[in-house]
Amino acid sequence: MNMVQKTVLITGCSSGIGLAIAAKLARDEQKRFKVYATMRNLAKKDDLVGATEGYLGKTMEIKEMDVCSEDSIRNCVRSIPDRHIDILVSNAGVGLIGPIECQTIDEMKTVMDTNFFGLVRLLKEILPDMKKRKSGHIVIISSVMGIQGILFNDVYAASKFAVEGFCESLAIQALKFKLQLSLIEPGPVITEFEKKVFEDGMKMDLSAADKETADMFTNIYLKNYKSIFQSLGQTAEDVAEHTMKIVLSENPPFRHQTNTLYTPMTTLKYADPNGDLPIDTFYKMVFQHDKIFNASLNFIKLLRWRSKKSFDLGKPQPQ
Ligand SMILES: NC(=O)c1ccc[n+]([C@@H]2O[C@H](COP(=O)([O-])OP(=O)(O)OC[C@H]3O[C@@H](n4cnc5c(N)ncnc54)[C@H](OP(=O)(O)O)[C@@H]3O)[C@@H](O)[C@H]2O)c1
Repeated sequence: MNMVQKTVLITGCSSGIGLAIAAKLARDEQKRFKVYATMRNLAKKDDLVGATEGYLGKTMEIKEMDVCSEDSIRNCVRSIPDRHIDILVSNAGVGLIGPIECQTIDEMKTVMDTNFFGLVRLLKEILPDMKKRKSGHIVIISSVMGIQGILFNDVYAASKFAVEGFCESLAIQALKFKLQLSLIEPGPVITEFEKKVFEDGMKMDLSAADKETADMFTNIYLKNYKSIFQSLGQTAEDVAEHTMKIVLSENPPFRHQTNTLYTPMTTLKYADPNGDLPIDTFYKMVFQHDKIFNASLNFIKLLRWRSKKSFDLGKPQPQ
């Protein structure tokens, strides 16, 4: 192995952001990374294999890992030479939308178990080695919903807030061991996640909710869902490019938002210590100025289409 090559373990690489990060790092021209791309179901590896032709067995290996199982995490980490992981990318995650009256506690637990306890399990296994070596970078794919809640994303946002609070606390201890932590905070990203969450929302049994709540979910939230992703959504490759920059940075930031179109919304959170400003703004946008909100989304969509550019990186999109 190249002496300067860093070992990277990534979770949830069967699709979306995890797949894009694994492919981006494995295909690095300077071969700076040895990637352990993990997924809970190896039968889903074809897309990753297709995206990394010629790199498999060289700069990338695919391994099984379910972040909801301590045994699965332990077996995977043990199979890595000397258990040596320089960079951990905690990406695996699931979504959940809808009125809480219509969600079961088990569904909510799955979200917390994957998005929050998945990270905790990983770190319980990997952090002690990093501490011993006094080196390592922990990169977590969080979300803008780790900063600010969004209508009908109550439990998902709670899981990402949990991740952010956990990391903020751990980051202080990590400094003592010269370890780095970085939270990547994407806005909407067009992946399987968005499709799965939307389809589950469409199929949701809303009978446990009152009519006003059910209408709000169907006729406001679900109705605008696709349009928000089409106008503000990034590609998984964009997020992978941001992640690569963070991984290569000598002094990586603790927080990194990937979508500049979304930053004005998250800034509201920091602008008002009382916390009312973002809540009032979202309320007005959704319930009082919905026509202006929709017109703005369409305008952004048009601008993006005309410029044919990635908003975040200012580089031409593949045609
Ligand atoms: N898409 C967005 O709009 C968006 C925005 C901000 C942040 N994020 C975050 O980005 C991360 C990746 O999401 P994505 O958009 O790339 O969605 P995705 O395409 O659905 O990918 C999610 C990945 O997580 C895996 N996963 C789920 N449960 C797992 C478990 N128990 N153990 C191991 N892997 C598991 C999935 O595996 P299977 O294929 O087996 O289900 C899949 O590989 C998530 O943490 C998500 O919260 C997404």
